Amino acid sequence: MSKEIKTIAVLTSGGDAPGMNAAIRAVVRKGISNGVNVKGIKRGYLGLLNEEIVDMEAKDVSDIIQTGGTILGTARCLEMKEPDVQAHAADICRKHNIDGLVVIGGDGSYRGAQALARNGINTIGLPGTIDLDIACTEYTIGFDTAINTAMEAIDKVRDTSSSHERCSIIEVMGRNAGYIALWTGVANGAEDILLPEKYDYNEQELINNIVASRKRGKTHHIIVNAEGIGHSTSMAKRIEAATGIETRATILGYLQRGGNPTCKDRFYASIMGAYAADILCQGKSNRVVAYKHGEFVDYDIEEALNMTKGIDEYQFEICKKLSR
Ligand code: ADP
Ligand code: F6P
Repeated sequence: MSKEIKTIAVLTSGGDAPGMNAAIRAVVRKGISNGVNVKGIKRGYLGLLNEEIVDMEAKDVSDIIQTGGTILGTARCLEMKEPDVQAHAADICRKHNIDGLVVIGGDGSYRGAQALARNGINTIGLPGTIDLDIACTEYTIGFDTAINTAMEAIDKVRDTSSSHERCSIIEVMGRNAGYIALWTGVANGAEDILLPEKYDYNEQELINNIVASRKRGKTHHIIVNAEGIGHSTSMAKRIEAATGIETRATILGYLQRGGNPTCKDRFYASIMGAYAADILCQGKSNRVVAYKHGEFVDYDIEEALNMTKGIDEYQFEICKKLSR
């Protein structure tokens, strides 16, 4: 029989993402409405190990649904990978009467949640990352805001690129995953998109594309380059030298991680946060909440971590076709 849940907690872990606050708010308020106490853990697993644990009331999450970042703070805490540290973290939860924990983060954070579950603390993961690189879900908290921020920035670069008849390489976030580059590449009508999953480092092909599109009368040439490939500045220099076309690099960087969440990120994060509080209060553990085939669902963490997904070939190819 599952233990009675009297107190739940929430933490954010890994890179911050717009919409995490909406999720925290939903966990707190749905937890309270379910009749449990709710605590907030600051700075992810690091804060848990340092016992930075505070009581959360409904008013503590007022006025945050519209803000980026995370009011709880986040951190990377490599010690959490050690089995004795994981056992100690579970003891700290017990010391603070925490029966269940919602962990908002990516795959790495899920592993920490899984370890806590193995050590007797009920855990539920929520997908929080701008990168969309969690295989079990078609939606991650923050991705929508990040792509809209990047899309608007790329529109602006395109204006000046066209006016000066330049080639522009715009580097977007995504160290291991190219979803931000794919989506903005299609949405911004980029001539080329370079994804960590796909790029073959054939710069000659890129150069040929730029020369061909200039011959067809294009005044700009937008290359959306994912962070995982990087080196945009040196790439721009090489392209300019090879084509004679002025080429500039713009690295969008952390501005993609901040800012007010879009309506979609607020909505999905709110539903997922409430869902997590509900299943935690029902005594479920070692699960992650996901959005799949138009529904909010939950999976066993191990099952979720073993799922795979990749860049859709048709979407990748169509991007190039539509801009030629
Ligand atoms: P994300 O959650 O976005 O994937 P990270 O991979 O940086 O981000 O992981 C966030 C945190 O999750 C790490 O700093 C660490 O505290 C915890 N974590 C990562 N991997 C593991 C693991 N294998 N076991 C336990 N905890 C982990
Ligand atoms: O949040 C995801 C992400 O933006 C990745 O695209 C990137 O590789 C990583 O975070 C960088 O984060 P940090 O510099 O904070 O380690």
